[in-house]
Amino acid sequence: MSRILITSALPYVNGVKHLGTLAGSMLPADVYARFQRARGRETLYICATDEHGTPAELAAAAAGQTVADYCAEQHRIQHDLGRAFGLSWDHFGRSSSPQNHKLTQRFAQALWEAGFIEERVTQLVYSLADKRFLPDRYVVGTCPHCGYQQARGDQCDNCTRLLDPADLIHPRSAVSGSDEIEIRDSKHLFLMQTAFEPKLREWINAKKGEWPILVTSIALKWLDEGLKDRGITRDLTWGVPVNAMDWGPNPQGQLPDVAGLADKVFYVWFDAPIEYIGATWEWADARAQEAGEGPAEDIAWERWWREPHAADVTYVEFMGKDNVPFHTVGFPSTLFGLNENRVEGEWRPASNAPWKLVDTLKGFNWLNWYGGRFSTTHQRGVFMDAALELLPPDYWRWYLTANAPESSDTAFTWEQFQAQVNADLADVLGNFVNRILKFTETRFEGVVPDGGEAGPLELKLYDDVTAQLVELTKQLEAVEFRKAAQALRALWVIGNGYLTEAAPWTAIKTDRDRAAVVVRTGLNLVALFARVSAPFIPFAAETIAEAVGEGDLHAWPQADGAAELTRLKPGRPVTTPEVLFRKVDDAQVAEWTARFGGAEAVETA
Ligand code: 2FM
Ligand code: ZN
Repeated sequence: MSRILITSALPYVNGVKHLGTLAGSMLPADVYARFQRARGRETLYICATDEHGTPAELAAAAAGQTVADYCAEQHRIQHDLGRAFGLSWDHFGRSSSPQNHKLTQRFAQALWEAGFIEERVTQLVYSLADKRFLPDRYVVGTCPHCGYQQARGDQCDNCTRLLDPADLIHPRSAVSGSDEIEIRDSKHLFLMQTAFEPKLREWINAKKGEWPILVTSIALKWLDEGLKDRGITRDLTWGVPVNAMDWGPNPQGQLPDVAGLADKVFYVWFDAPIEYIGATWEWADARAQEAGEGPAEDIAWERWWREPHAADVTYVEFMGKDNVPFHTVGFPSTLFGLNENRVEGEWRPASNAPWKLVDTLKGFNWLNWYGGRFSTTHQRGVFMDAALELLPPDYWRWYLTANAPESSDTAFTWEQFQAQVNADLADVLGNFVNRILKFTETRFEGVVPDGGEAGPLELKLYDDVTAQLVELTKQLEAVEFRKAAQALRALWVIGNGYLTEAAPWTAIKTDRDRAAVVVRTGLNLVALFARVSAPFIPFAAETIAEAVGEGDLHAWPQADGAAELTRLKPGRPVTTPEVLFRKVDDAQVAEWTARFGGAEAVETA
């Protein structure tokens, strides 16, 4: 049986994430991880905060903290919020960890020695006032095309044209506003992505039909537009230092320019995906420590990432569409380079064995806030902390999974949210669980009743349930979340329909045994719903499972309605839970629209 390795894109450390980030990476990864664990597969779900780069430095400065303190605090906040949403990470790491520092430096060294990293001199904007080089987007000025005065050095937000800082009229630093800036030469390392163009193309082409079209088309578009080698170092202080003094010569016999590369750190997009591996190492170390051992053996984490040990691992990545190029071109180029590196290096890992590439890349479109984008900069939309002040996590989990932005961008609106959670969670699932349990309490002393035999209605129910279990399992295996949620909802609806048709409240007046069969079957449906709903709405599933004493919440059912609906044996006590899902009312929607804005907020933004 294959093992399942799952990563969701690493959220930037600066600031609480909005629901769009949750919906397009962390939440679907969690639903999938919970499903796979229930299937009995050894599963590892890894995530981390992405902590390097200029935005983290500037956010720390704005908060009056050191970057290290700021990141530690923000990491904790994001960790706690993720847990509150039920995200079942096996490890939520930090890209600033010592493990990631080591891996990033070792990888870069191996790539240099194999000839896949090159030194180049580049011209960059230096701010005398800020005493730092400025990344393109931290240079602002007037757009030469449309006259917009706040155009960034990489792109004009007004006319969307791509720019170079040198194009801007009256360029100045976005950090301090100072116009004392100049262009300076700076030595940098470049990853030779162009060397892997044919390999990347062949690899992506082979994934056509298997990965979402969104993903293969973005990847191929990048290749078709012509790959460029990528600068993988920056003139910053916060990040993984390049540390090139121990590097050996490249295939041309040259040593790196250690002095020219001093004070450089790796580009955040070079070290962030490596942190998928780094966080696995962190996880292994943490486990070893818990067990009272020293640091983990390499094999403890390499078995997820390196052949031949990882031969039985299926690696599934989750991310928003903006991240796709970095995961179909950038990170694979790093891994291709390492895998082709058969020279003897300083760091010669275990067997020099190849690193594992992604098997399934699930990319998502945008979840929009009404007609516009969620925006961290403009604090537009609902963020994870605020969402939990309004409603329990399962409401959000359900809505965001059932409306996953899979085939196109999807808009969040309060009205739709209200309609959907009320209909699915309160009217269908909640109502069903409540009806049958209340009836059991009042008419059958709160125990699973005995007596009677399954009749035609039950036999039909078994078939319908089998069909939906097949569908639900298939869609979850296929990482199709909307379709999976539809199948789950269909199961709930089938349960409700059965109960209404079998009407135990009528049967009990004349035929106790018939009523007993229906109630027993209904209680079995409740137990089944707890298990199949658990990946989606784990908190409610736990409550439902407790109500019927279902101890095996985390075991995925077989596609066998007859077996699954006769598991609970007569005599087992059951209880009615508190209201499972309160309806979202109009007053709440009005209040939340006033607080967070709605359509108007986007139009005027
Ligand atoms: O777009 C983002 O939020 C990035 N922080 C994602 C990084 S994913 C990975 F490569 F680390
Ligand atoms: Zn412009």
